[in-house]
Amino acid sequence: VCVAFQRVTGTLVLSVLTAVLGSLQFGYNIGVINAPQQIIEQEYNATWMHRYSEPIPHSALTTLWSLSVAIFSIGGMLSSFCMGIISEWLGRRKAMLINNLLAFIGAGLMAMSKLCQSFEMMILGRFTIGAYCGLASGLVPMYVGEIAPTSLRGALGTLHQLAIVTGILIAQILGLESLLGDKDLWPVLMGLTVVPTVLQMALLPFCPESPRFLFIVRCQEHHAKSGLRRLTGRMEVSDELAEMKEEKRRMDMERKVSIPELFRSPLYRQPIVIAILLQLSQQLSGVNAIFYYSTSIFQKAGVEKPIYATIGAGVVNCAFTVVSVRALKTLLLFNDSVPSMSYVSMLAIFGFVAFFEVGPGPIPWFFVAELFSQGPRPAAMAIAGFSNWTANFVIGMFFPYIAHLSGPYVFLIFAALLLFFLIFTFFRVPETRGKTFDQIAASFHLPARTNMDLDMDMDLGKPSTELDYLG
Ligand code: GLC
Repeated sequence: VCVAFQRVTGTLVLSVLTAVLGSLQFGYNIGVINAPQQIIEQEYNATWMHRYSEPIPHSALTTLWSLSVAIFSIGGMLSSFCMGIISEWLGRRKAMLINNLLAFIGAGLMAMSKLCQSFEMMILGRFTIGAYCGLASGLVPMYVGEIAPTSLRGALGTLHQLAIVTGILIAQILGLESLLGDKDLWPVLMGLTVVPTVLQMALLPFCPESPRFLFIVRCQEHHAKSGLRRLTGRMEVSDELAEMKEEKRRMDMERKVSIPELFRSPLYRQPIVIAILLQLSQQLSGVNAIFYYSTSIFQKAGVEKPIYATIGAGVVNCAFTVVSVRALKTLLLFNDSVPSMSYVSMLAIFGFVAFFEVGPGPIPWFFVAELFSQGPRPAAMAIAGFSNWTANFVIGMFFPYIAHLSGPYVFLIFAALLLFFLIFTFFRVPETRGKTFDQIAASFHLPARTNMDLDMDMDLGKPSTELDYLG
């Protein structure tokens, strides 16, 4: 079954743009604590003075700051793990809507922490907004992947990353001392994350729920059909429905896929390992060492105006994500890494970020949604998201310590890891462009499927999808 509805309708654009407002917030909160690090540290110091009548010890400050940065990813880890259950229970659209509550709470806590002289509130706020981002990092690619026509799935999937990097850049610019990154206004900088929240809440009611979810999971053919009609702009959607029916037929033949099942079943083991390793390669490239800490990295490297170098990295990051949206021809793109951190640090970091954004940046997020069909998708995305956020936490929390111990050579560790991931991707990751979810799943089933399975396909009067696909 080959389905391609090419037309980009207003509803499709609106739905994708509304969803990626969540990704924008994800990026904003990754980038937002980079520039005002020193100012917020001074605030922590003032609070410490106020409480204990002595300046904060250096080690306590490093710990409090790393925690403020990295607890964000603990929130992300926990919530991304629950994403599968939540998205099946509420549906993709309602889950995105309700997730916004977390954004309000997180933003409120961070914005009020200065007034209340409490670094605990700031840390709790970072945790809560991290939980928001963890859910968004699963829900957005899942929703976008499910509503996108097969031919546009890769390009639309990359918009998640484009919104993330745009969020990072906006946060970096607003973090300039002359804008919101000064000692009085930084709470506003933290609180501004509610702007996309409000916008998303206003727009989501106009976006259709994922028709694949409605049809395959909820068995609501009528609703699925009307969603498809809005998304395609056509009354005639029988091709799309036929493709979903085929996927549903297969899903009904399988048992419900739980998280342990993903690792036990030979059908899913290979794609789940690929999903996890791609997510790890994204994070263990060390990219967030840059987006969390670049201002202080540049400062140590002797760059005069480190904040502008940070913004420069954000601009390169955006520019190359745009390149990748346009040039998403093959998945086998790879990246490079930073050899040393001296005065060439700026160029090296810009180059690194550029390569990151044409390969491991955008791809893992939507690729995992592609690797699995409707049945195992939520559980697989939960595992993948959890792996991503765990690695994100490890980098956010320990980078300052490791960098302190190993100096500039810390990036050599990332380089070695990347080499491993490069080899793995080259040999193990299949191409998914232009294939339906069912065809992608079938390409993994092939070696594991028995003659009995093939007989069953024949009995049902249909050639198996593998045969279609290979033919
Ligand atoms: C990816 C990562 C995110 C990182 C960003 C940088 O989206 O998941 O953690 O900050 O790329 O552009």
